Amino acid sequence: MLKSATDETSHEGSKGFLLQPILFGDLELRNRVVMAPLTRMRTPTPGAVPNDLMREYYEQRASAGLIISEGTFVSDQARGWFGAPGIYTEEQRKGWLTITDAVHRAGGHMIVQLWHQGSVSSRALVGHGYSPLGPSAVNPEQLVHTGYGNTEMTQVPTAMTLDDIRQTIADFRHASKVARDAGFDGVQIQGGFVYLFQQFMQENLNLRTDNYGGSIENRARLLFEALEAVLEVWPSSRVGVKAGTMMPERGGFRSSSSTLPTAEYVYRRLNDYDLSHVMLMRQLADLSDTPIEPLQRDGVLHHFRKLYSGTLILNVDISPKRGEQLLRDKLGEMIAFGREYIANPDLVERIRRSSKLNPQRPEGYYGATAAGYTDYPTIDEIETTQGEVQYARL
Ligand SMILES: Cc1cc2nc3c(=O)[nH]c(=O)nc-3n(C[C@H](O)[C@H](O)[C@H](O)COP(=O)(O)O)c2cc1C
Repeated sequence: MLKSATDETSHEGSKGFLLQPILFGDLELRNRVVMAPLTRMRTPTPGAVPNDLMREYYEQRASAGLIISEGTFVSDQARGWFGAPGIYTEEQRKGWLTITDAVHRAGGHMIVQLWHQGSVSSRALVGHGYSPLGPSAVNPEQLVHTGYGNTEMTQVPTAMTLDDIRQTIADFRHASKVARDAGFDGVQIQGGFVYLFQQFMQENLNLRTDNYGGSIENRARLLFEALEAVLEVWPSSRVGVKAGTMMPERGGFRSSSSTLPTAEYVYRRLNDYDLSHVMLMRQLADLSDTPIEPLQRDGVLHHFRKLYSGTLILNVDISPKRGEQLLRDKLGEMIAFGREYIANPDLVERIRRSSKLNPQRPEGYYGATAAGYTDYPTIDEIETTQGEVQYARL
């Protein structure tokens, strides 16, 4: 029987910690290497139905201990990124089922990231003539991807009514059911960065005077109500949350004196739910001269490790070597790789063999085709072709 992720002895082993199996909730994972959630814009619009190209991409990466899907919308209203998939219609469920089946056949596990972009969206994306919704009528001032190579600035959203809030919570419940019926092993709620739940937590974007605004508890309420709706469908051992202080430090998302206490409140409270995991990001932005400057680099990991006692998945700019050390230091239980998973479908095998990693082709991160998506070679392919790899033209 495997040891639980937080068990004292679970970090021991000869192969290195990253490649050790782990008990994740009630799931036995082959290793502690996680594929981070990565929006790739390969889902055809308007149906937002996952397709065969996406199946191939995820199947190629199934040797990860855990795949977290790209951000996936819980409703039409939740949409805010062109070319991203949904998890609320029957067609979407069928599309995802072919993907989860393929990952399972390859011995992998996969959870879906449930996403609501709230005010960081555009009318063109939410469709039906609707306006993006936010906690209050305040522009979050972010760029939105409205097409391949097209971005636009956000506008002032419509402030959510209590009915809109109830509907949003119902949408998370519904999407959770579709996710269960689509064969996922669990879900992760995207609770951070610039998206709906973080919008409610930002004092400058949330001017509400009802139960969803004002105090920290009120500003975090929507996240916990959505979490509880998800927990009506899934056992807590299959549910996780991505949360923290990580934001772009641009436009409406700059840290303030309430950023840290709010994130601390969220982390402390998440302890009560016995979740499969919480996903913690190191900061991407330069925090110099911000109220959260001490969280720079690994500061954020040390800070939140003390507050959360369950399984932490650590992410952002962590090399396999560094990840090994972070696990050894018990700052987290699993390491998520984003960009390295885009470029290395066989990342686990490369870690095993200490092989070189493929070069990144950022120009293919977002796009419509297989180029820059499913055409990265494995180390075996490179060795057979003696490095003569033909990439498709981007
Ligand atoms: C192309 C791209 C798409 C991303 N999409 C998502 C997403 O859908 N959901 C999410 O939570 N994070 C997303 N992220 C953030 C990644 O999950 C990860 O945090 C980031 O790449 C940093 O980790 P890394 O240094 O290992 O790449 C995305 C990042 C990139 C580069």
